[in-house]
Amino acid sequence: MKIWFLSAGGETIGDVEAASGERLLDIAQANGQALEGTCEGQMACSTCHVIVAPEDFAKLPPASADEDDLLDLAAHVTRTSRLACQIWLEEDWGTLTVRIPADARDMQGR
Ligand code: FES
Repeated sequence: MKIWFLSAGGETIGDVEAASGERLLDIAQANGQALEGTCEGQMACSTCHVIVAPEDFAKLPPASADEDDLLDLAAHVTRTSRLACQIWLEEDWGTLTVRIPADARDMQGR
């Protein structure tokens, strides 16, 4: 399947092929995206926050209550926000487009 990464402003900043069972956070970091993922998927930081394209959001399994609670604390949260460490990819989604929030990039000084 194909993953597209967009900047906060909507510009394409990366694309990558991925397979079922891979985790979005790992794919994004391997692609050089500025997602810190400080807690490495322990759901304790929210620095892996991404904004899923509205047309792709329904493809994903719903967020757990714990994920929703953490997202409440993240900056720039939208109705299609998710934690990238909680998204395991499935081939039959075909494509997935996610936006990297502005503050994730600011932390890297970009
Ligand atoms: Fe910390 Fe996802 S990496 S919540």
